[in-house]
Amino acid sequence: VRILSGCHPGSWATGSSVDGGTCPPALPRLATAHSSVPPPAQKADLSGEATVATINHSLALIHRLQELLRNGNASDTTLRVRTAGSDEVKVFHAHQLLLALQSEAFGSLLHNQTVVTLQEPADSAAIFEKFIRYLYCGEISILLHQAVPMHQLASKYRVSTLQRGVAEYMMSHLASESSQGHVVGWYHYAVTIGDVGLQESCLQFLAWNLSAVMGSAEWATVSLELLALLLERSDLVLQSELELYSAVEEWLGRRQPKGPVAEKLLQLFHLQKQSAVLGRHYAALQDLLFQAFQFHSASPIHFAKYYDLNCSMFLPRNYLSGAWGSQWVISNPARDDRSTSFQTQLGPSNHDTSKRVTWNVLFSPRWLPVSLRPVYSDSVSGAIQSVRIEDGRPRLVITPAMSSSDFAGVSFQKTVLVGVRQQGRIFVKHAYSFHQSTEEVADFLAHADLQKRTSEYLIDNALHLHLIIKPVYHSLIKAKK
Ligand SMILES: *[C@@H]1O[C@H](CO)[C@@H](O)[C@H](O)[C@H]1NC(C)=O
Ligand SMILES: *[C@@H]1O[C@H](CO)[C@@H](O)[C@H](O)[C@H]1NC(C)=O
Ligand SMILES: *[C@@H]1O[C@H](CO)[C@@H](O)[C@H](O)[C@H]1NC(C)=O
Ligand SMILES: *[C@@H]1O[C@H](CO)[C@@H](O)[C@H](O)[C@H]1NC(C)=O
Ligand SMILES: *[C@@H]1O[C@H](CO)[C@@H](O)[C@H](O)[C@H]1NC(C)=O
Repeated sequence: VRILSGCHPGSWATGSSVDGGTCPPALPRLATAHSSVPPPAQKADLSGEATVATINHSLALIHRLQELLRNGNASDTTLRVRTAGSDEVKVFHAHQLLLALQSEAFGSLLHNQTVVTLQEPADSAAIFEKFIRYLYCGEISILLHQAVPMHQLASKYRVSTLQRGVAEYMMSHLASESSQGHVVGWYHYAVTIGDVGLQESCLQFLAWNLSAVMGSAEWATVSLELLALLLERSDLVLQSELELYSAVEEWLGRRQPKGPVAEKLLQLFHLQKQSAVLGRHYAALQDLLFQAFQFHSASPIHFAKYYDLNCSMFLPRNYLSGAWGSQWVISNPARDDRSTSFQTQLGPSNHDTSKRVTWNVLFSPRWLPVSLRPVYSDSVSGAIQSVRIEDGRPRLVITPAMSSSDFAGVSFQKTVLVGVRQQGRIFVKHAYSFHQSTEEVADFLAHADLQKRTSEYLIDNALHLHLIIKPVYHSLIKAKK
């Protein structure tokens, strides 16, 4: 143990960190007199002659403040929390100074009165104690179903740190398992409070994990506005358009919205299908159905002469069905390069169902762009090796096995979905879109840590990809202009 010299008032000598728990005998008064308080954690600044150390009892202080609330010692304020629609009243013996310190709302509420009655909805009243405790010790643990009422309390009493904390909690717990689902409710709440960031995160989550949501109790709680927003998106991940159609039909059946609403929703569909719901709204949808019929029966080149194809209606979504792509599970993905091939339908129109395109795919776990490749030299082969391992990035290239002149005006957008497992179910972690190679995407698997077996991108040390090919009549649009 090294005892530092140069002890003067305001600073003190201490043992090294190995011996941090013992106090030098000359300084007993600085140690706490209460046995309930943990021994001080001392940190010595070992630079040069300085002997600054930190005595840190912040945990013990927090503990004391909590005791103060629990026992109500020297309380100068009484909060009576009445649960709306019931006789239940919770009483808290609190301290004006501490409440006002964290919340301006309490500050002004308490400046001329010592007993305050607050009216709270049942879900907020149920967690009021946690909320007050946070004001005393700055710490809180919350569950999924408590996030909205806690955020409401934080907003009502203007505790901005807690507001931010709960919003961050929600953003990072979209994927958590809950029996009833919670993301739809959070989205609606984010709309009412105008939190655009939370709205966007919820929407992205719902779009990429839509199959899971459509199969849960949450689906019935989706608002009309949210449903319309989802149907407008081309990045929805679905088995097929039919799966979405059935889910919307179920939603319409439960909610029974007025005619024009149903028609507006059905207009957001890409495909034609015979069904009772469509039959009921047939008149309003006639033009759309006729257009869909023509789209599926005419050749794309012919169709483009009469319709503007530059419209999200003609851009396929992320369909998981076999006609549009293939799953690819790569075990031990960090080991070496892999390749595979699969077939998809040439175009989204039924006119093209018999035409197939074969795709070759190459995955490299550690690919180096040409600019980073070391120049070949006999003398430094060891150095070359180390450069490769460190700087290589994952890359995936999808190329057609046949010549592009066979594609009759269709160009292809590729999307790779990365699946992760959570509570036994597979969800989409990320979607990357590109034309030929993921070099076009700056962040392809950038945070995946494929070398680590514990990587959250791996399921049993395998990378679960789903490759999707989306035909886009891009060149037709250009040719028309
Ligand atoms: C004091 O201790 C707490 C809890 O152990 C810790 O979080 C905090 O960072 C410490 N403060 C300093 C200044 O070391
Ligand atoms: C606070 O109140 C409790 C219970 O009434 C009592 O046991 C405790 O000694 C009090 N603490 C102080 C610091 O007065
Ligand atoms: C406290 O002040 C507010 C306005 O600042 C007033 O509305 C309220 O009646 C006052 N309450 C008491 C008990 O004086
Ligand atoms: C979809 O769910 C997975 C796992 O639950 C999650 O990691 C991912 O972030 C979700 N997607 C989005 C866009 O939030
Ligand atoms: C297609 O439409 C988008 C907006 O709807 C527009 O920005 C884009 O320029 C259009 N492309 C062509 C080729 O007309």
